[in-house]
Order: sequence, then structure tokens, then C-alpha cells
Amino acid sequence: MKVKNIVLLGCGGFIGSHLLDRLLADGGYNVVGWDFSADKIAGHLDNPKFRFYQSDAFSEGTAADLDNAVKHSDVVISLAAICNPSRYNTEAIATINSNFTEVQKLAEVCAKYKTWMIHASTCEVYGRTMASYLPDNSYDNPALYEQIEDETPLIMGPIQNQRWSYACAKQLSERLLHAYHVEQHMPITMFRPYNFFGPRMDFIPGRTGDGVPRVLACFVTALLDGTPMKLVDGGHARRALLYIDDAVDALERMLQMPQAAQNQTFNLGARQNEISIRDLAVMMRNAYADVSGNPAYRSHPIIEVSGLDFYGKGYEDCDRRVPNVAKARRLLGWEAKYGLEETINYTVRYFYDEFGRESAAAE
Ligand code: UGA
Repeated sequence: MKVKNIVLLGCGGFIGSHLLDRLLADGGYNVVGWDFSADKIAGHLDNPKFRFYQSDAFSEGTAADLDNAVKHSDVVISLAAICNPSRYNTEAIATINSNFTEVQKLAEVCAKYKTWMIHASTCEVYGRTMASYLPDNSYDNPALYEQIEDETPLIMGPIQNQRWSYACAKQLSERLLHAYHVEQHMPITMFRPYNFFGPRMDFIPGRTGDGVPRVLACFVTALLDGTPMKLVDGGHARRALLYIDDAVDALERMLQMPQAAQNQTFNLGARQNEISIRDLAVMMRNAYADVSGNPAYRSHPIIEVSGLDFYGKGYEDCDRRVPNVAKARRLLGWEAKYGLEETINYTVRYFYDEFGRESAAAE
């Protein structure tokens, strides 16, 4: 099978907009997309190879169009979801509906036509590492923290810790899609993003959205506004960052190699880009100093706050996410090309060009 016609849910989001750039630049794909927002894809709205619906894909007005688009597509890529930890414990119902109920509706349509569904899950399905439950854990045994798609157990905290509403909904979606594959032979691919980083990620509060965004945008906002960068619970948690271009490369390879990609779950991450959140704050303020030409940013204030104060009741953190990507390397020939410094520098440069230059000029 050669993929030509694509349905893309969440085409206006961070991952979706970058994937759309790539698909339309290729010229060989026809894309039908849904999203609530067109802000990140405004440059594509007149492209004859792109048909855009600015709405909920399952609203009465467009549900029939979605059905028809799925029927005539080679693949449906499902990226639309609430994916912001500040909402998991405060809006758990919406989080679960967005990350499970909506996926279930889409899976039903795909199953009806046996259309291949590529679904964005999350590395958060692994929950916390086994190592984190050991007294005096020092992460000396990789078997207790490295994450392997079809082997590692998925460990989440108690129900009262509503942080896990997202991971649990994602896990159930994975189990549902797997069941559709096993029982109804629907082709599926699931991928688990590891902290994709890059231009256009998220929103900047007060400028392009409201609320508490992900850590990248929180730190950028602090630098823009001259407020302290906040380390939740000391900033000891670690994340492995993956530059968005690397992530899109992996998705493109799936589309080019359906046989290799189908009926698999892939970790998409870069373990060599692992960093503590504390070190991330330091690297980001240094990158901001470089790009703005203002060395004062090297000592931009960093303070500590508790998870309870920052996110509210029910927050719990993933301690570490170390991806094993042997499967993506073996089946897709993929691995990350961008290192940590490039990932952070390119991203900070984008946000400075987009918002920082203007703030600096206003001062
Ligand atoms: C995220 C989301 O749950 C998912 O959307 C996504 O699937 C997944 O990661 C992913 O992209 O891999 P998380 O990494 O915890 O989870 O969210 P971030 O907002 O990126 O926070 C990373 C870390 O920074 C956490 O330890 C958080 O407590 C901390 N943080 C966040 C701060 O120290 N300061 C802040 O201002 C914001």
C-alpha cells in the first residue's frame, strides 16, 4: 500500500502543525484535517491538497464528513487530545473524555472501514519507574527504569492522585485499539512521544492562551515576563527531550513503510537527551541570554515550589522517562538526530524571535 490520502485529527496542534508542514511540502499527500484552532496552520489554509474543518470532528455538523473522509483515506492519524498536566488533576473528566471517549468514537469509524489508525499515545503510560519505589533508589539497575514497549509494566499511582487520569485514559485507548486489531483486524500503530520540544509548542499565557502550560512554555514565559522560573518539587524529575523534526521524521517513515509500522507500538524519544528539570531551567536561561545578547539572563531567578502549590491537589510526577527505541531503529530505521543543545537552542531562538524581541523592544 502507498499512502496518499490522510485524515489528520489535531492538525492545528504542536505535533499536527509540524506534520502538516512536512506532508504538504512533500506534495504527494492529500490531507483532510480537523482542529479547533487554525493559528498554527494559517499558511496552509489555501493549499488545494488540504481540506480543513475548524470544529470538533464529532460535532453534528461534520460527523458525516469525518465518516466519509475516513472511508476514503489510507490512514487516520489521531493527535487531538488534552495533554497538559495542569489539567489532569483539575479537569479529570474532560481529560478522560478527550483521551479515551473521543478515541473510542474514532476507532469505531476506523474499524467500520478497516482503515489504518495511527494513534498518539504517551510515554506517560509507563507511569513511574519501578526504581522510584525502592528505598534509597539510585537508578543503578536500568531494568528498573528503562522503558521497552512490549515488556515494561505500566505503573500508576492511586485514584485520588488524579494526575494519572491522562495516562490511564491513554493506556485504555491503547488497549482498545489493540483489541480492535486482534478481534477485528483493524490495522493500528501507536506511538509514545517522549517530551517533544520545539517551535510552536503549547501556548504563552496572556499572549496566545490562558492557564498553566507545559514546562517549556512556563520557562519561556518567566524569561519574557521577568518572573522567576519555578522548579516543581526541586526540579529533580528528569525528561528525555526529542526535537520535533526528529519526531516528524519518525511519523513520515511510518507513512512510507506501512508494513513495518502497522500493528506496532513505538517509543519515540532520545535517551541521550535526558536532563533534569533543574538543569533544563539553567540551559534555557543561558540559551536565552545568548539569543537576546543580554548576559543578565544567565542569572535569571529560579525558585522552588511544591507540586501542590503549582498544580493543586492530586498531582504526582513521573520521576524518569528513559526510552528504549530499538524497535523504531529496527523496523523504521529511525533514531533521533538532534542533540540536547540544538533542541534547546533552536526552540529558545524561536520563542525569542516570536515574542522576546518585541518585549525587549518595549522595555
Ligand atoms: C507531559 C504530558 O503529560 C503529556 O502531555 C505528554 O504526553 C508527555 O509529557 C510527553 O510529552 O512526553 P510532563 O513531562 O510531566 O508530562 O509535563 P511538562 O509540563 O513538560 O513538565 C515536565 C516537568 O517539569 C515536570 O516534572 C513538572 O513538574 C516540571 N515543571 C513544569 C516545572 O518544574 N516547572 C514548571 O513551570 C512546569
